[in-house]
Amino acid sequence: MLKKLFKPSATLSIFTLLVIGAVIGAVAFWGGQWSLHATSTDDFCMTCHSNHSLRDEVLESPHGNNSMGIVVQCQDCHLPNESFAYLRKKIAVSPDLFRFIMTPDFNTQEWLDENRREQADLALSYLRSIDSSTCSDCHSRVYDDPPPETMSRMAVGMHTMNKRRAPEDRETCVDCHVGIVHPYPDA
Ligand code: HEC
Ligand code: HEC
Ligand code: HEC
Ligand code: HEC
Repeated sequence: MLKKLFKPSATLSIFTLLVIGAVIGAVAFWGGQWSLHATSTDDFCMTCHSNHSLRDEVLESPHGNNSMGIVVQCQDCHLPNESFAYLRKKIAVSPDLFRFIMTPDFNTQEWLDENRREQADLALSYLRSIDSSTCSDCHSRVYDDPPPETMSRMAVGMHTMNKRRAPEDRETCVDCHVGIVHPYPDA
């Protein structure tokens, strides 16, 4: 029986093999869709970060405590919407599983406190690499002309100045907005 499995197939036609291949492909595709979806909730993030104060920080910030009653989810800021970029980020973070297992004290508040600056800079450089697109997805009117009436004068001044810069000199959202949710430690 085993031998038969590893022998080139004489009895199965090319057609049958193609059908089997297509079925396996479809299952893998939908399985992938399902797990990408299932892995994108706060609960999923908190399975590894459960002892970190990250979610409480969101709830205490304007992104979790505002007059509109909106609680912004981890992935809304950290994972891009555009599907290809999203997939790339998913693949890029998978070493986190390995690091999670290899760093026994990772899921402790002490680890976060000690490594906050380094982790924050990693998160910031990722956001810079996608031009803070997750922020702009929600805050789509920042560079509107005329600006939204509710925007403070200081904000209008800074955003207008930034918009007038040449594209290569323009700053991205997180260049100016650091520590909006989690406390960003000084060097
Ligand atoms: C399998 C466990 C695991 C899960 C699930 C997980 N993380 Fe992490 N995360 C880690 C580990 C481990 C690190 C530290 C990696 C290192 O040492 O560079 C980390 C670091 C981070 C960082 C900072 C470093 C960086 O590269 O940006 C962010 C931001 C982050 N996680 C966000 C999230 C979000 C958002 C989710 C949910 C979509 C999530 N994590 C789910 C294990 C996990
Ligand atoms: C899911 C939508 C969403 C995403 C994603 C999002 N925000 Fe917000 N943001 C909000 C809401 C809602 C508020 C609260 C508005 C209010 O209270 O009027 C807010 C408030 C703010 C404020 C004003 C309050 C403060 O903290 O100073 C700034 C600045 C801001 N966001 C920047 C950002 C940046 C930078 C990013 C990306 C890292 C981002 N936002 C991602 C929805 C979002
Ligand atoms: C050149 C620096 C700079 C850049 C770049 C920048 N901002 Fe701001 N932004 C400010 C300042 C300064 C304020 C006013 C103080 C505050 O609210 O933090 C502000 C205010 C805001 C507010 C609150 C506005 C209000 O009064 O309603 C939001 C939301 C915001 N910015 C989102 C963004 C987003 C999203 C981006 C990227 C698309 C961005 N900003 C890029 C400097 C900047
Ligand atoms: C409104 C956008 C926003 C939300 C919501 C958000 N983050 Fe972040 N996160 C950031 C930004 C921006 C940074 C970069 C550091 C900074 O500016 O403080 C960051 C940094 C981090 C870091 C690196 C360590 C640190 O404290 O800087 C981790 C880990 C992290 N986030 C995990 C999470 C998890 C888990 C959630 C959900 C419970 C979450 N974040 C929700 C915007 C967000």
